[in-house]
Amino acid sequence: MSKVLIIGAGGVSGVLVHKCAALPEVFSEIMLASRTKSKCDAIAAQLDRPIQTAQVNADHVPELVELIQSFGPELVINVALPYQDLHIMDACLETGVHYLDTANYEPEDTAKFEYQWQWDYHERFKDAGIMALLGSGFDPGVTSVFCTYIQKHHLDEIHTIDIIDVNAGDHGYPFATNFNPEINIREVTSKGRYWAKGEWIETAPLSIKRSFEVPENIGTPNIYLMYHEELESLGKHIPGLQRARFWMSFGDAYLKHLEVLGNVGMTRIDEVEFNGQKIVPLQFLKALLPDPASLGPRTKGKTWIGCQVTGIKKGESKTFTIYNTSDHEACYAEVQSQAISYTTGVPCMIGSKMILEKKWTGKGVFNIEQMDPDPFMDNLNTYGLPWKIINGPVAKLD
Ligand SMILES: NC(=O)c1ccc[n+]([C@@H]2O[C@H](COP(=O)([O-])OP(=O)(O)OC[C@H]3O[C@@H](n4cnc5c(N)ncnc54)[C@H](OP(=O)(O)O)[C@@H]3O)[C@@H](O)[C@H]2O)c1
Repeated sequence: MSKVLIIGAGGVSGVLVHKCAALPEVFSEIMLASRTKSKCDAIAAQLDRPIQTAQVNADHVPELVELIQSFGPELVINVALPYQDLHIMDACLETGVHYLDTANYEPEDTAKFEYQWQWDYHERFKDAGIMALLGSGFDPGVTSVFCTYIQKHHLDEIHTIDIIDVNAGDHGYPFATNFNPEINIREVTSKGRYWAKGEWIETAPLSIKRSFEVPENIGTPNIYLMYHEELESLGKHIPGLQRARFWMSFGDAYLKHLEVLGNVGMTRIDEVEFNGQKIVPLQFLKALLPDPASLGPRTKGKTWIGCQVTGIKKGESKTFTIYNTSDHEACYAEVQSQAISYTTGVPCMIGSKMILEKKWTGKGVFNIEQMDPDPFMDNLNTYGLPWKIINGPVAKLD
């Protein structure tokens, strides 16, 4: 029986709140707070049980501290934006409350994300006797747990990890992003990077691609090598790892729009003068694009996200593939959201449940792959993200 404070009321939050509300024996009281209270109230109105809602600007630590102290949660779940991570961690430190998020910190004025800023909080969280669990979404999140599950049950040592994220869904718009457009476009237009033998190899954005015949007849999209945050933490936490890469599928229309928008300066994140006012082009673009939350009722098709992992077992080379497929329409029917938010919101609920049930404990700042994968993997099957494991590779990537 535990109280949780959820911060942020966007796409991921909608799923998370539905899933937490459905488990009153774990999440006994829920408060949902965000910058725009009406969005919290709209989510609350979809539920079968009452929750509290509040307005908060998560960039203001004193406001957060006041809210945390007045509600008294055991855990703060951050599903606002990566820009708020450190502020919310500061507020958790000040109030002695556990913290969980799904995306690592990124400064608003630089398209650069890395764990070091949050890892630097480790000693302070340890001294305060509280836990911060970083990256409890799908990727990062489930993908890292998939790797530790394979490490625990199938291999003596992991040598390579390829994380593949395919969205074969169709929302019918010429161009839209499946989650926050600003965060999505910053991520996709960044340089590619992968981890090999302890070093980062940098590549031009979206310059390396492969064709991937996705299992279960989901399609044969092109997948592109990108940098993704879990590569950094897996490189640190998986002993013996020699290479880790991340691949994501993009359709040709999406890439063509992105190229044109980039060429005309619409994806810039620095301020420009317009009619006597300063605007950030990418933030303006976000205002023009469809709200990711509005894609739910229109999106058809499936997602496939998995890890192809090689290594050794009793001296023999082995490859395993572990994955989940989700159906956009089925997710919408369940929680009024498409599969991208669903596949993030469900593991966010499960990571929170692991902390509240004390299946995952610790003092300090932890990435999800530092925890025992087994109870989390069981919960994925129970709460809507069943997974499969194949003895062998599914993608030709070299
Ligand atoms: N690990 C994964 O697999 C994964 C996948 C997808 C997304 N994510 C992460 O999940 C998080 C949420 O994504 P989303 O798609 O749900 O984004 P979203 O729809 O844009 O929602 C973000 C929410 O945060 C609120 N917010 C922003 N700044 C705030 C502030 N200063 N104070 C209080 N609230 C604030 C927004 O408020 P307004 O409504 O007022 O704008 C909005 O309700 C992001 O960090 C994203 O990177 C992780």
